[in-house]
Amino acid sequence: MPSPILLTDDPAVAARFVRDGQIAAFPTETVYGLGADALDARAVAQVFAAKGRPGDNPLIVHLADVAEVERVAARVPDVAARLLAAFAPGPLTLVLPRGERVPSVVSAGLATVGVRIPSHPVALAFLRACGRPVAAPSANRSGRPSPTTWEAVQADLGGRIPCILRGGRSRAGLESTVVDATEDPPLVLRAGAVSLEALRTVAPNIRLAGALEDARRRSPGTRHRHYAPRARVVLGVPSPIPPGAVYLGLIAPENAAQYAEVRVYPSAEAYARDLFAAFREADAAGATLIACEPVAPVGIGLALMDRIRRAAEG
Ligand code: TXA
Ligand code: MG
Repeated sequence: MPSPILLTDDPAVAARFVRDGQIAAFPTETVYGLGADALDARAVAQVFAAKGRPGDNPLIVHLADVAEVERVAARVPDVAARLLAAFAPGPLTLVLPRGERVPSVVSAGLATVGVRIPSHPVALAFLRACGRPVAAPSANRSGRPSPTTWEAVQADLGGRIPCILRGGRSRAGLESTVVDATEDPPLVLRAGAVSLEALRTVAPNIRLAGALEDARRRSPGTRHRHYAPRARVVLGVPSPIPPGAVYLGLIAPENAAQYAEVRVYPSAEAYARDLFAAFREADAAGATLIACEPVAPVGIGLALMDRIRRAAEG
């Protein structure tokens, strides 16, 4: 891997790496992604290597325009077309039958492909300049929290990737909602920035992959350790509160003075936006434990609770 890393604010400069068969990190409205030419199996292999990502975890293919979905999917079922019309561009990933142009390594050998059109203007400028579908997972080392700033990308992947396209902090802070739309009713494989309630306005019969086995079979990524800071994550308030603990929540805790840091958010959206950054900053400060107040699993709260639970399992 070339180093030092090139930091740029110019989407065309970052796109040149992808056009040359290399990889580049870029901002999106959910989290930062690490992109490669999705039609080039050798470029895609560099993404897996830089992240240390298991080869059985498929990547999402990012497009600049909804009209391009038909170039990477073999078929766009009715319900998928309706979801695209309602939520693309935006933080929704649709799993569709994989088109034959997309190498199987992108999808970890599955017959499907995850497709997303981001809404972030810098992401769209980058994708347009790439001029091809871009396969991109979140731009973190495998197992770490997704990066919501370019600095977090640099901390994880500096020296392992040649370029970061800088944007501001990601607005959602949690990843896209992944929906298997190969069948009707569609199945939510990963809760995310598009809420279940919003999806139901378009696909009233959509279901959540409830049984863990169901989710594991259909979204291989959910099998792997995820989102974990080095500090231990607990749901709710620990007792006793150990030295060096951090608290995150919507309401100030009792015994606030016993925490090394307390972050109280005005909304679940603000909590979600900051969660991964808070994890990383707690690690940098040497925190021992991160206490996360649970929120109601509605709206963004469903995805927020999913990420907190996974981090706590780690
Ligand atoms: O918001 C996001 O989705 C970000 C930005 C960069 O777009 N990307 C992201 O990618 O979070 P990643 O690789 O960290 O997570 C992708 C998830 C994984 O759980 C993976 O298993 C699932 O999507 N996925 C991708 N393609 C799939 C497919 N064909 N079938 C089932 N699940 C798939
Ligand atoms: Mg990820």
